[in-house]
Formats: sequence, C-alpha cells, structure tokens
Amino acid sequence: HASAPNTDPATAAGGAHSPGNDAAGVQARRRRTFAVISHPDAGKSTLTEALALHARVISEAGAVHGKAGRKSTVSDWMEMEKARGISVSSTALQFTYDDHVINLVDTPGHSDFSEDTYRVLTAVDAAVMLIDAGKGLEPQTLKLFQVCKHRGIPVVTVINKWDRPGRSPLELLDEIEERIGLIPTPLYWPVGIAGDFRGLLRRSDEGFIRFTRTSGGATVAPEEHLDAEAAAAREGDAWQSAVEESELLSETGADHDQEMYLAGQTSPVIFASAMLNFGVRQILDTLVAYAPPPRARDGVDGKSRQVSDPFSAVVFKVQAGMDTAHRDRLAFMRVVSGTFERGMVVTHAQTGRPFATKYALTVFGRDRNTVEDAYPGDIVGLVNANALAPGHTLYSDPRIEFAPIPSFAPEHFAMISARSAGKYKQFRKAIDQLDTEGVVQVLRNDARGDASPVMAAVGPMQFEVVTARMQAEFGVETVVNNLGYTVARETDKESAPGLNRQRGVEVFTRSDGVILALFSDKWRLQYIEKENPELTLRPLVAAS
Ligand code: G4P
Repeated sequence: HASAPNTDPATAAGGAHSPGNDAAGVQARRRRTFAVISHPDAGKSTLTEALALHARVISEAGAVHGKAGRKSTVSDWMEMEKARGISVSSTALQFTYDDHVINLVDTPGHSDFSEDTYRVLTAVDAAVMLIDAGKGLEPQTLKLFQVCKHRGIPVVTVINKWDRPGRSPLELLDEIEERIGLIPTPLYWPVGIAGDFRGLLRRSDEGFIRFTRTSGGATVAPEEHLDAEAAAAREGDAWQSAVEESELLSETGADHDQEMYLAGQTSPVIFASAMLNFGVRQILDTLVAYAPPPRARDGVDGKSRQVSDPFSAVVFKVQAGMDTAHRDRLAFMRVVSGTFERGMVVTHAQTGRPFATKYALTVFGRDRNTVEDAYPGDIVGLVNANALAPGHTLYSDPRIEFAPIPSFAPEHFAMISARSAGKYKQFRKAIDQLDTEGVVQVLRNDARGDASPVMAAVGPMQFEVVTARMQAEFGVETVVNNLGYTVARETDKESAPGLNRQRGVEVFTRSDGVILALFSDKWRLQYIEKENPELTLRPLVAAS
C-alpha cells in the first residue's frame, strides 16, 4: 500500500468524480443507526450500558444513564427532571464495533413518554424491540412498534432477562406473531429455560455459545464456542431441548430471510440478559450483519437524495434550556447525505437562510463533545438553533426539502390559559413558539376562543414542559385543566358539524390545519362510528 497512505476504508475508496462524496457513501455503509423500543423496565438502560461496554466506549457498565443511585451523566436540565431522576433529553450514543459505527438514538420512554419518543423513530434506520421475557409485549412497546411499522423500520427482537424465571420461548414467539403479525425468526435459541440461562444455540450452524457470569455483570461475559457434540456432552438435556425446538422452528419456516426482514414482515430474535451481558455481542453482530445502513431519502418534490450526494440533514428534535446556565436551544439533526464538517455554512430549507454550524456537538446526556465531521446516519446537536424545528431540512446545494415529520396520535388533552389576563400577549406568543417547536400540538375551536387553546400530547409530561417553559422563558404563569378526552381522529369540514352534535365529542382545528375530533373514550368513538357511517374518521399515526 505504498501509494495509499490513507488506509481508512472510508476515505481510501476515493473516486474519480468527487472523493469527498464517495467518502460519505462508504461511511454510510459502515453505519447502523437504531433505537431501542421498549416498555419501561424492560431493560433499555441496562442494555444501552451493555452495548457500550461491548463496544468499549466505556470500560464498566453503570456510567451511561442517570437513574437514581447510578452514576449520573445524563442531563438534568429541569428541576422536575431532577426530582424524578429521569432524563427528558433525547440523546445519541455513538460507538464503533467491528469496524462499524453504531449510532444508538435514545427514545425517552418512561413517565417522560412524549411526541419526541415517536420523532426519534424518524431519525433511525432500524429498531431493536426489547421485551421482558416475564412480561411479553407491553403497551408502550406496541405503540412504538406501530410507528416502526408505519415508517417501514425493520425490527430486531430481543427477549431480555432470560436469566430470570419466565415464560417459554415458543410461547413468547407465538405472542409476537399473533398480536402484531410479525413473524419471529430466531437467529439464536436459548440453551436453558428462563432462569437457567447457559448460552445460545446459533441456529445457522448449530454452534453453542456458552456464557460465564461475571461479578455484577460489570464486564463483558466470557464466551466459549463449542460444537454441537461438545455442547451435548456439556449441557445434556438443556442442549437437547434447544436443538429440538430449533428444528421445530425450521419446520415452521421461522428462519431468517433478509428481504422479509427489511420489508418489516419478519424479525430476527435474540434471547439475552442485558444485566449479565449474555447475548449482547450477538445483538451487535446482528445489527452489523442485517440492519440496513442509511439509505436515500425522498424530498417533497419526489427527487431522492442519495447518501453520497452533497450534505443534507433532517432536524428531528429541538431541546430548549437543557443547560440552565446558558438557556440554549439545541437542535438534533440526523445526517441524511454527504459529509458534514463543523463550521460549514448550510442552508435552512424552510427559511432559505444560511445556517452556520460552528457549534456542532455530539450529545449524550450531559457529555458534550464538539463534532468535527459526521456522515449519513450520524446525529449532531446544533447549539442556538433558534429557527430550527422538528422536520426541518438543512442542506448544501443543490436544494432539498424532506417531508415534514407527521404528528402522532395524541392521547392527552388539556386546556391552557394565562393565570392573569394581562399576560395574554406573552401567552399567545409563547404558545405559538412552543407549538412551532413541536413541544405540544395546539388545537383551537370557536367555542373556546383563543385565550384558552387546547394542548394535545402523546404523554402528559409534554404539558409540564409547556408550563415550565412558559414560566421560565416567557414569564407567563399558566393554568392547565385536563380535559376528559382520550382518543383523537382526523376528520373533515363536512363531518365536523355532525360530530360536534354528539355527546362526548368536540371538534378542533390543529395549527397545521388538520381537523381533529376528540372523543371521551374508544367506546364512544366506536358507537359513533357505527351509528354514523357517513362521518369521516381516520386514525392518526400510532393510534392505539
Ligand atoms: P428501562 O431502562 O427499560 O426502564 O430498564 P432498566 O435498564 O432500568 O431495567 C429495569 C430493571 O430491570 C432494573 O432493575 C434492571 O437491573 C433490571 N434488568 C435489566 N435487564 C435485566 C436482565 O437482563 N436480567 C435481570 N434479572 N434484570 C434486568 P431495578 O431493580 O429496577 O434496578 P437496579 O437496582 O437493578 O438498577
């Protein structure tokens, strides 16, 4: 390689036309950008630590997330967040594994479940659906899965906590197939029942990966690789059952099929214990082998932006006031195409104005590092990005504008007004600002008037963010009254009067012009749909 001083495959690829752009293409192929979708307590934080541990970003588990009692590195940007010991911030963790660059984008998902949780899924190419072996599919996982399905994001299933007594593996697979129609195709099968986790049978070659526990799961679990004969001798009946079950799976067609996985019809399954670090390397291997790298994305004009085209990115989240000392606004963008270099001046598609990227950061919790360059699939935080809102596009010529992020089905509704009528002007300005930023959806109708609009949210935490920011940034004290609605449907002008006449229903216009009908509960909705088939009622994305 005397003539190739740069042996980095990313840049070494070069190219006759434009070496920089080809570098973006090569870097894109190395990348896997994914999120973990799960219900609280399934083990997402533990798995995040375990993944980072395997990728050697950190040497010991316990340094990544900020739950009470653990080493806290996660942002505590608001008092309420501190009080609850949870993280409001969407964060991204980047690490290298096996010459691949992995971007793990965090989905806030505890009591802080919000529209941001869904928006994160617009920034990833793949998802890991993390399931507690003892509990199976849970509500929040189902909601997030629906968004993945809607967006065509392929899903790898991880059945966690196999070190604890739980259900049978086949029963868990049945549940996945029956309830969400995803065909599970296990790549590895557990050796040992739940609670007696010895290792994994690799179904591709009937090899046995035997794990050894380490103290507190604080280091990578040592693996021993045995062939089938040695495994049988070592594990006896546990191995035999695993082999039989694996054969049964093959007979029912539960083997991995890459095309069907990418089409969202099947899901590779891995059994794991995030706590003991069992199966974690196999999750990474699976992502590297099968999860899709960043792909071209269509602009609103129908033209598609290839990963090797000039720089473009989509903003998927804006975080205000993360650092109380600076009161800054941080916009998170996902690079779609090209090479991003800190300091470059790009164009903000929505305003046509130049945007200087001098302050570009990678952010994980409290830790902020200046980023020098980034490639398709990478997540970059931009400081003081006042004009940017979720769904906005940044680009280098030629122009591109990506489709806006859809609004997700709200399930919580509350009326908000200024405590003092004298603050109406500030209130009005603040609510518009927070609406534009996508903090909540703002709904209005003539009956309620402008002084007390209705906030619609995916999680009640969004209301708290609104009241806190109203007070802190706009000096407006607010009064919030929860409304008794729980379901929203999209409707139209023609159906609105008929719906407004119904009991337990109210029609609103959202600031993007969409007309929404709110219902007290799903039974009311079902009844009205049945009695009035002529009314237009369309479910919104991720409607449960
Ligand atoms: P989350 O982010 O999805 O909410 O879950 P988190 O990782 O915080 O895990 C929730 C609980 O489940 C934690 O216990 C964690 O230790 C436990 N856990 C996670 N993965 C595994 C696993 O593979 N096996 C077993 N047995 N437990 C697991 P906790 O008691 O709430 O907290 P802690 O005191 O253990 O930290």
